[in-house]
Amino acid sequence: MAELGPVAWPPDPIRTERLLLRGAAARDRPAFVELLTSPEVNTYLGGPRARAEVERDLPAVPEQWPGSFVVERDGAMIGQVLLRRHDRHRPAAVGKIDLGYLFLPRAWGHGYATEACAAVLDWVDHALGEPVVLATQTANVASMRLAGKLGFAEVERFRAWDADQWLGLRPPSGLAGDV
Ligand SMILES: CC(C)(COP(=O)(O)OP(=O)(O)OC[C@H]1O[C@@H](n2cnc3c(N)ncnc32)[C@H](O)[C@@H]1OP(=O)(O)O)[C@@H](O)C(=O)NCCC(=O)NCCS
Repeated sequence: MAELGPVAWPPDPIRTERLLLRGAAARDRPAFVELLTSPEVNTYLGGPRARAEVERDLPAVPEQWPGSFVVERDGAMIGQVLLRRHDRHRPAAVGKIDLGYLFLPRAWGHGYATEACAAVLDWVDHALGEPVVLATQTANVASMRLAGKLGFAEVERFRAWDADQWLGLRPPSGLAGDV
């Protein structure tokens, strides 16, 4: 994985209408365990991990790296939005910032993922001003819908990890350097 870019981390917390986005903290650990071990969350992500293994391996403050946003609603973590720059990816995506998202099932169906990802993309526009790519399984209907709502346009479909995959790209909005 390559560096995200010249960004200060943790970021200043981002407030949206209903959510708070921030770097990870020790109090988020139980929610991270739930995200990693939930069969529903991991249906299209290679399957859930064993709870005992996750409890043993997860650091006291999980996922504390530039680009890993915790999404909080009413004081509790409900999901994670991730920005990663992969040095191994499809040719059209290599070296670009890649958006990922995982929300706890009880937080699905409220528009929280749309609201959180839109705020993170806005942060990318201001902090880095770069295009963002997104890869998801075509069978992951909720994720495909989210990608469309966020303004990602199809670059290609391909086959990997025994599944049909979709690669989308969202151009920068030209706001770099505003903040
Ligand atoms: C992908 C994922 C984040 C999508 O979550 P989601 O809650 O469906 O996404 P959104 O935030 O866009 O919410 C949309 C739904 O909220 C509903 N909604 C309710 N209130 C809303 C509001 N105030 N504003 C917007 N939408 C609202 C929408 O109608 C929509 O419902 P629908 O799915 O029945 O059409 C979620 O399914 C998930 O975490 N999956 C597991 C991880 C995963 O597969 N990640 C993809 C990796 S590539």
